[in-house]
Order: sequence, then structure tokens, then C-alpha cells
Amino acid sequence: MLFDMNLEDAKARHKLLSDKMYAADTAYYQHDKPIISDAKYDALRVELETIEADYPELTHENSPTQKIGAAPSTGFSKVKHAVAMLSLSNVFDEGEVQGFLDKIRRFLGLDESELIELVAEPKIDGLSCSLRYEHGKLVMAATRGDGGQGEDITENVRTISCIPQSLPNDAPDILEIRGEIYMSHNAFKALNERQLSEGKEPFANPRNAAAGSVRQLDVNVTKSRELGFFGYALGEVSEKFANTQEDIRVKLAQWGIPETPYKLCDSLDNIMINYDAVLQSRPDLDYDIDGIVYKINRLDWQERLGFIARSPRWATAHKFPAEQAVTRINAIDIQVGRTGALTPVARLEAITVGGVVVSNATLHNEDEIARKDIRIGDYVVVQRAGDVIPQVVKVIEEKRTGAEQEFKPLSLCPECGAHAERMEGDAIRRCSGGMTCPKQAVERLKHFVSRLAFDIDGLGDKIIQAFWEEGLIKNPADIFTLEDRNKDSLTPLRARAGWGDLSEKNLFKSINDKRSIELNRFIYALGIRQIGEVTAKRLAASYGTIDALSDAIIKAQDSESQSYEDLIAIEDVGGIVARDLIAFFAEEHNITVLNALKGHLDILHYKAPKSSNSPVSGKIVVFTGTLTQMTRAEGKAKAESLGAKVSGSVSKKTDYVIAGTDAGSKLKKAQELGVTVLSEQEWLDLIG
Ligand code: IVH
Repeated sequence: MLFDMNLEDAKARHKLLSDKMYAADTAYYQHDKPIISDAKYDALRVELETIEADYPELTHENSPTQKIGAAPSTGFSKVKHAVAMLSLSNVFDEGEVQGFLDKIRRFLGLDESELIELVAEPKIDGLSCSLRYEHGKLVMAATRGDGGQGEDITENVRTISCIPQSLPNDAPDILEIRGEIYMSHNAFKALNERQLSEGKEPFANPRNAAAGSVRQLDVNVTKSRELGFFGYALGEVSEKFANTQEDIRVKLAQWGIPETPYKLCDSLDNIMINYDAVLQSRPDLDYDIDGIVYKINRLDWQERLGFIARSPRWATAHKFPAEQAVTRINAIDIQVGRTGALTPVARLEAITVGGVVVSNATLHNEDEIARKDIRIGDYVVVQRAGDVIPQVVKVIEEKRTGAEQEFKPLSLCPECGAHAERMEGDAIRRCSGGMTCPKQAVERLKHFVSRLAFDIDGLGDKIIQAFWEEGLIKNPADIFTLEDRNKDSLTPLRARAGWGDLSEKNLFKSINDKRSIELNRFIYALGIRQIGEVTAKRLAASYGTIDALSDAIIKAQDSESQSYEDLIAIEDVGGIVARDLIAFFAEEHNITVLNALKGHLDILHYKAPKSSNSPVSGKIVVFTGTLTQMTRAEGKAKAESLGAKVSGSVSKKTDYVIAGTDAGSKLKKAQELGVTVLSEQEWLDLIG
């Protein structure tokens, strides 16, 4: 017997250990975020087994000792949002708020004298949720997920008492309400007291507590947690019921949806007065807010402004200043990223900043270290804002003792020993090892399966790392041969520690679900330097298929070619992005992996979102001259929202040139090439 315990003590200890293991399993298998080390986990297991050996009556089928494999990571089923759930751009100071207003004024072509009215409301720090009501009944609740697709949390949300299950008769037949689920400070405090008294880990902050409470496979757990909700925007709606953002709020409140307080502002002064007032009252609120959201009040203006990438042009978040604290830099390590970037990271004396323990901060690059004169051993001010990686703001020079050491950039990659080089004009030093650098290879794999790329459940960072080390997955194509290889393997996945038949089956299902993939996701997944989600979409829209894309980019190696011209005419693709794309497709290893992937996958042709049946979908258009009924920015945004590609230069491939007054050389070129020229009015008639 390990401990001299009576049955009662053993029971209590058994429960505590089991709870810790459940929590660790959930964090590891469902959120890919281990909360304890493997060694600690093993120690828990050993202790639990010892207790069960002494008191077999405590063994039950749900005990962590009885589980063959990991908890299923399938979790919630996925739901596609009828209207994408967006995020918000940010502004941080008065100048940026002014910039936001200026942009709107320019986009809409408003006169200086015209007032722009905004709804200013708190930015709730919780988790966003979409509620869908059909014929007045709550039929679906979903998390935001990647914005296009979220998780079905309907049953959990039904337990939140302030969310109505049905709406009055005057609500539209289809009504999607977007808002934030949060936990009040009072509820958070009570929950953490309960957690502690039950021997469970407390939550780090109310947002984590709210998210953890909603994402519970056991609805009873959600039910036992006190959650709140504020509605702030709409998704799909079957009939229009408001002309302003304020009307929306009023209606939602009438229908029983909780609404935050708000202010109408029509000048920068008003906005800043309100900002200061809310910041002052922030400590008295019973919920966490991390800024103020400004929304253009007129819905007709919102409609004209539309969206850019993943956020609306008609709204922005004015973030509160980041929370700061002072601590010491114990060391500066170098982290190697997916593209070989070597990023210096400060290892800090752990400190709590705004309720979260911080022990690392990014130092960006060696120039930044030099500019701030950061030395190892320095006391520094660190800050964190929201989910952003903590940063070092400045050194506290008065605290220097003289023993601090300067940071010296490495000349070799710390992971693979390849030469670390810094190109002219690049602030970043990079490992030149390419795919021979193990760290780059692993980081590329992590990126490949990440949420905006292949989004493969069950292939978390830790598993990717382990599979790579064991040679099971060395490059992305290996993911898709894993199941076949596993069949003949003497050491199949199900035989691994912590695995079982179910976890093996789940993993292969997750992988097989992704054998068919949208082109834009596929391009993004390749992890080409500079190619983020938005540029990947633009490339997909321009080339349509992976073969067309790779052919064109290989041809674009000749910078005199039409292919090169076409490439740099794509929005966001300048000379530097083109250089990185060309370099990627010039590397033999990349082409080998690409070809192997093509053999395993069905890469779907890119379909322009929604308005693909518009008359200008897929057409290449060029605006020139002065437009009178809309601004250039608005014209361009509208054309793009209808699926057209807007180019800055006229070529044989151009379908339409829209010529305003005073059109010059582009109009002339269009006439020479025989491209169709439309007046502004003809264009508006065409798009209806
Ligand atoms: S409006 C298109 N209003 O902030 C409308 N969002 O950083 C987009 N959020 O994903 C959202 N309070 O989860 C809006 N009053 C508020 C908000 C709010 C919190 C969250 C929301 C969104 C995130 C963007």
C-alpha cells in the first residue's frame, strides 16, 4: 500500500486524481493544449492504479485507468454558417479612430459636413456564438470556428437561461443573432471556489471559464455553470426589420435578447469622451470587456461599405491599452519557424499580467533588440493584449547592474546547424536548411493540418512532433498514406500508450474527411512564405485549379513573361510575394510533395463565393478615370463582391474597362487591344 489511507480518504484522493486526468485528457485530445507534462500525467496514473489496487471497489468503467485509448476527439459536429461570422479590425488610439472615420468618408464619398453616426458598445471578452431562430424557435447555436464553419453547441446553449428558446411573433421567420457568451465576475469567482473545493484546477480567466463551460460534451456540466449572453449583430435574416444598428439593438431587446449599454457618437470628440468614460467604469462592470466596438449606424451605409477579407469595413474595435508588468529576462532563445525565420524569444521570470501567467515574450528580430537595447538580465516592461503574444515594451535602465549581457545573433540555425543568413532588406535572419531542418519540417506539418488549412482533428502539435520523430509522417503527403502503412505495421497506432482502437479509428476518419479540399485552403496549407489566407484565396480565384496555378508560377520564373505580368497584377501579389511563390515552385522537393499530394487528394476547383451567378463573376475588370456615382474603392469592392477580379492594368485578358471621366492611357490601351469599354452607368446597369 502506497499510502496509509482509509476508504474515505482513498475515495477523495481517487476522485481528485481522476478529475485531474480527465482535465488533462480533455486539454490534450480535444483542445491540443497539454496542461501538464507527460511525466506528471504518468505519475497521476501510477498513483491512481495503486489506489485501485488497494481498493478495487473504487475502480469503475469510466476511471481513467480503464480507458484503452484517448477520449474521442470528434467532439461536436460541424455546422456551416449561412452567413460568415467575421472578426473586427482594431484601432488603438485617437489617430487610428480618425483614420477609420476618414476611410469611411472616402469610401462613401461623403462631404466633410456630413455627420457619420456610430453606435459605440463594449467589446465583450467571451466567445462568439450564432443563434438561429426559425419561425420563432431556437433551432441551432454554433461557435464561430473558422468563420465559415463552427461547432454545433445547440444543446449546451439551451441551458443558458438568459437566451430565449422562442421569440415573439413579430420576429422574422429566419433570424440569426450573433453575440457573445460570457461569464460574469461573480459567477467566475463562485465557479473557481467550487473548482478548488473539489480539488480541481481553477480557470485562468472568465473567458476561458465561459469557453470551457460551453464546449462540454456533457450538457449537465454547462447547465451547472452560470453563463450570460449579449447579442450584437445579425447573420441570416429572412426580412429586413431595421434601418439602423440602433434599431437592431432595440428590436433584439424587445424580443428578449440581452443587450449591453451603448452610446451614439457622431464626432471624434464624442467617441473619445465615451472611450474614456467606459475605460473609467470598466473595473465596476461585472463582465470583462477589452475595448469598444464602433459600428456605422446607418444600415444602408453598412451595406455599401461591405467587407474586407474577414472583417467589416463598417465596424472596428477600439482596444483598451494592453496590461503591463515588470519582470526580468533570464535568457534569450532562438525559435525556428515554418519558413526558417529565426525569432528571438525572451525567457522571463514568470509574472502575472492581466490575470495570465507570462513566461515568454517575442522580441521579433535582432534589429528590434538593438533598437530597444535589450540585454539578458535586464528588467523590462512586458505587456499582453488579448490573445496576442506578450511583448517587451522597454528596458528599465535604472535597474541595470552592469552584469547584463548583450544578445549576439546566431550565425548557425540552433536546430540543424545550417548557416543562418540575413538577406538584404529583410529584418529576419533565416535558417538556410530548408526541409533538411527538422524544426522547419515539423512546423510546416503543423501548419498544414492547422485550422485554416486542412483542419485535421486529432493531429495536434504534440502528435505531429511525435510522428515526425518516429518517421511516421515526414512530409504532408505521408499523412494520407498513414492508414495503409498502419495496416501492415507491427506497431500500429492503437498499440501506442494512451491510444486505442477508437482513437486510431477517429484519426483516420478525420484524415479521410479531408481528402477533398478547397483550392484556397490547399494553397494556404502549402505554407509558402507570405501566402496567408487572403492571398491564398486571391490566387485560387485567379487560377481556379492547382495545375493552372503551378504551371503559371513555373512560367513566371521568366520575369519578362505574360505569366509574370499576370501574377503581379493580382491584388496583394507584388514583386516580393511573386519572388517567394516562384522560389517555392522552383524547389524540387516542393514539387515532389505537391505531386504526391495530388495523387491522394481531390483538390476542388475554386468557386467564387456566393454571387458566382452574377454577370461579372470571373471577369477581369479595370477601373479608370473619375467615377461620379461611387468612389473608386467602393466600385472595386462591389465588383469583387460580385466575383469579378479587379486589375490595375489593361491586358488582352481584361474583359471590361470601366471608364469614368478624364480616363487616359488605360482607356487608350483598351481601345487598342479591342477590350470592351463601359461607361460608369453601363457598368451599373450590367451589375444591376
Ligand atoms: S461585432 C460583423 N460587437 O469580437 C460583426 N463583436 O474581434 C462582427 N465581440 O468575433 C462582430 N463584443 O466575438 C461585435 N459588441 C461587439 C462585440 C464583438 C465582442 C467579439 C466577437 C468578434 C470579435 C472580433
